[in-house]
Amino acid sequence: MRVLHEADIRGKRVLLRVDFNVPMNEDGEIIDDTKIRAALPTIEYIIAQDASLILMSHLGRPKGKRNSKYSLAKVAERLGELVSAPVKMASDCIGEEVRAMAEELKTGEILVLENVRFHKEEEKNDPAFAKELAMLGDVYVNDAFGTAHRAHASTAGIAQFIPAYAGFLMEKEVRMLRMVLDSPRSPRMAILGGAKVADKLGLVNNLMEKLDIILIGGGMANTFLKAQGKNIGKSLCEDELVPEAKRILKESSEKGVELLLPVDAVVAEELSAKAEGKVVSVDEIPDDMMILDIGPKTIELFSQVIKKAHTIVWNGPLGVYEYEQFAQGTYGVAKAVAESDAVSVIGGGDSAAAVQKLGLSDAITHISTGGGATLEFLEGIELPGVAVCEREDSSELYTV
Ligand code: 3PG
Repeated sequence: MRVLHEADIRGKRVLLRVDFNVPMNEDGEIIDDTKIRAALPTIEYIIAQDASLILMSHLGRPKGKRNSKYSLAKVAERLGELVSAPVKMASDCIGEEVRAMAEELKTGEILVLENVRFHKEEEKNDPAFAKELAMLGDVYVNDAFGTAHRAHASTAGIAQFIPAYAGFLMEKEVRMLRMVLDSPRSPRMAILGGAKVADKLGLVNNLMEKLDIILIGGGMANTFLKAQGKNIGKSLCEDELVPEAKRILKESSEKGVELLLPVDAVVAEELSAKAEGKVVSVDEIPDDMMILDIGPKTIELFSQVIKKAHTIVWNGPLGVYEYEQFAQGTYGVAKAVAESDAVSVIGGGDSAAAVQKLGLSDAITHISTGGGATLEFLEGIELPGVAVCEREDSSELYTV
C-alpha cells in the first residue's frame, strides 16, 4: 500500500477524501463527530508539511441533487473547532469558482468542498467528473475507509488522474483488519451478531477459512438453532436460509472451526420496551415466545472462550440491545472483549456504540469507522478505495 508518509507533499495541494458522513439530528446538528476526529492525524500531518489541503466527502444520500439538508457546512464548522488551521467552505465541489478557491489556497489552509454526492456523476464514477476533482490538487490521499467499498469518482476514479496514497486512518484500518484475519497466532476468533444471516453469509464463509472460533449470537443465531433442529418459537428466522445454515454447521466441523451458538436465551412474548424477559434453555423455547438476547450461561460460555483468544473481531450486537432488558448479552460480551489480552477489532456501529456506552473503548485495540466497508473487507472482497492506494504507481497514466 502506498502511504502518506511516502508522498512528497511539501508545498503541494493535497486532495484528501475523508468520510465525514456523520450522524445529524433533526436540527442539522452533528450528534457524533468520531469520523471527523478519526481523520485529524492525517489532516494535521498534511498541514504540518506546508501543504494546502482540499477536503472531499459525501454526507448522506442526496441522490445526485443539491440538498441543503446534506450540506457539509456544519461539518466544516466543526472541523474548524478541532484543527489549528483556518477552514474555508466551498459552495460546490467542481466548477470555476471552486477551482479559483483551490488555486488561491495558501499553504497551511484547508478548503472543504461541498458534498460530492450533490452530483450524480460521483456515484456513477464518471471519469470527466473524477478528472475535474483531480484538477483541484497535485496529490490524492484517501482516508475514507468507511466509504472504501464504493467505487465512486472521489474514492476510486480520481486515482486515474493523480497519484494516490492511503491516509493514516485508511492505513490503520486495513492493517488492523488484516492483522485479525492473517494473524499466525491462534486462537483467532470472530464474534458475530445482528439480526440477519442473509447479511452475514459471505462473512461467515470467509471467516471459516481464516479463523479458529466463531461465536454467533443475535437474531442471526436463531436460523442456526433451527438448523440444529431446535424449536425457536416465534423468534425471527430466515427459513429459506436454514439449509445454508446446516451446510455452514457441517462445513465448520469438517474444517475444525469451533462454531458456538447460544445455549440459553432471554425470551419474551413480544419485542417492546415493556416486554418482560425470561431466561430459558435453547432446548425449551416456548412456542409463543421469541428469542431477544443470549442468556447468562451463554454470556459465561462466550466470555470463557473470549479469554483464550489472541485476536478477536466483533461485528453485530448479541441481542436487541436498544432495550435494556435485552442488552445484557451485548454488554457481557463487550466486557469480556475489553478484559481480554487479545488484539481486538470492532467493526459495525452497534457493537462500537455498546462499547462506548460502557466506557470501554480504550480497552479495545481498534474500533473501525467503517460499517459496510468493514463487513466487505472481512468477507474478503477487494475494496475499490483501498485498491487505488495499492496499485503500482504509474505516473505516466496521469493526464492532469
Ligand atoms: C457509511 O456511513 O457507512 C459510509 O459513509 C458509506 O455511506 P453510504 O452507505 O451512503 O455509501
